[in-house]
Amino acid sequence: MKVISVVGARPQLVKLAAIAHAFAGTRHEHVIVHTGQHYDANLSDIFFSGLGIPAPDVHLGIGSGSHGAQTGGVLAAIDPVLAERRPDWVLVYGDTNSTLAGALSAVKQHLPVAHLEAGLRSFNRRMPEEHNRVLTDHAADLLLAPTEGALRHLGNEGLADRAVLSGDVMVDVCLRIRDAVLAGEHPRPALPAGIEHDEPYLLATLHRPDNTDDPDRLSALLAALADLPVPVALLAHPRLVARAEEHGLKLDQGAVRAGRPLGYAGLVAAVLGSTGVVTDSGGLQKEAFLLGRACTTLRPETEWVETLDGDWNRLVPDPDALGRRGWIETAARPTPRGERGTPYGDGRAAERVLRILAERLG
Ligand code: UD1
Repeated sequence: MKVISVVGARPQLVKLAAIAHAFAGTRHEHVIVHTGQHYDANLSDIFFSGLGIPAPDVHLGIGSGSHGAQTGGVLAAIDPVLAERRPDWVLVYGDTNSTLAGALSAVKQHLPVAHLEAGLRSFNRRMPEEHNRVLTDHAADLLLAPTEGALRHLGNEGLADRAVLSGDVMVDVCLRIRDAVLAGEHPRPALPAGIEHDEPYLLATLHRPDNTDDPDRLSALLAALADLPVPVALLAHPRLVARAEEHGLKLDQGAVRAGRPLGYAGLVAAVLGSTGVVTDSGGLQKEAFLLGRACTTLRPETEWVETLDGDWNRLVPDPDALGRRGWIETAARPTPRGERGTPYGDGRAAERVLRILAERLG
């Protein structure tokens, strides 16, 4: 079996690590195509080296641009690659512009497409990721759903006959790296200057366009983080840095200490070292859940609804609406005590994905 994985943005590289790991030692051929959507070393290269992913076989070098330009750029550049290599499956991951472009190119060339992390929905049509998910699911031939909830969404959209529950491959990677971090196999992460490893801190990230692109919104969110009674380690995504600069806003204010994004093992270690997480990232909500830290999500909704059970995750669309005390009591709340269960699977999803792909060949 020949499978082409199409990836381009940071969260896809984590999922790719699980898949590449499962391919290693099999007789299947696995080809990695990197679209170049993310090109900064700390959003891309360090994931390949840090997670032991083989270097991409093809790099399309697309880079940034408007949604249309970025999606269209990948689409045009990937066409000849898929045409030449004719894989048995094109495997696309998650919900980025690279996902949609990979799926479209494949479907138009009558190449079978499998969508990993299918069926997630925020039901928020303002999010570029929501367009990408819905369109990719409806284009793909095989829908690999991470959870029962995702499988239900696919059924509701008339896609049940193409859908199968595979579990979540991010669990595979997160648990493997957690064990390595706890065994002391990784150096301490480079936390922002001013954050002490052995003192309490909250870990924060912020990068969704709805949170970063409007100056008033970004200013209010940064002020809310600044107001927290514990130091806040803010791992700043390039989009956040660029928008803050454009709007004339300082990231380092009050409790906030801004630093660079971390590699995956660094991130896992930073979550484990924290007293809790404040974020708008999908992946980090789940990592906080898997690693047993309370998460506060700065969005009106989440695709990972299972994290909300037992107060492990709380949605806060607008910190100001809680009042100062309410916000502090939420973001700095103690770790919940309840059991979390295993709604995202057992950490062996990637093997299952390979088995499903091989079984459904042709
Ligand atoms: C993308 C995904 C999002 C995912 C996120 C993880 C889409 C629509 N969004 O969002 O789902 O959660 O990746 O990081 O595909 N930039 C750099 N260097 C880079 C990459 C981006 O400076 O390596 C800058 C770009 O110039 C641009 C901004 O970051 O200003 C946004 O990049 P883009 O890839 O369009 O979207 P993300 O916000 O990263």
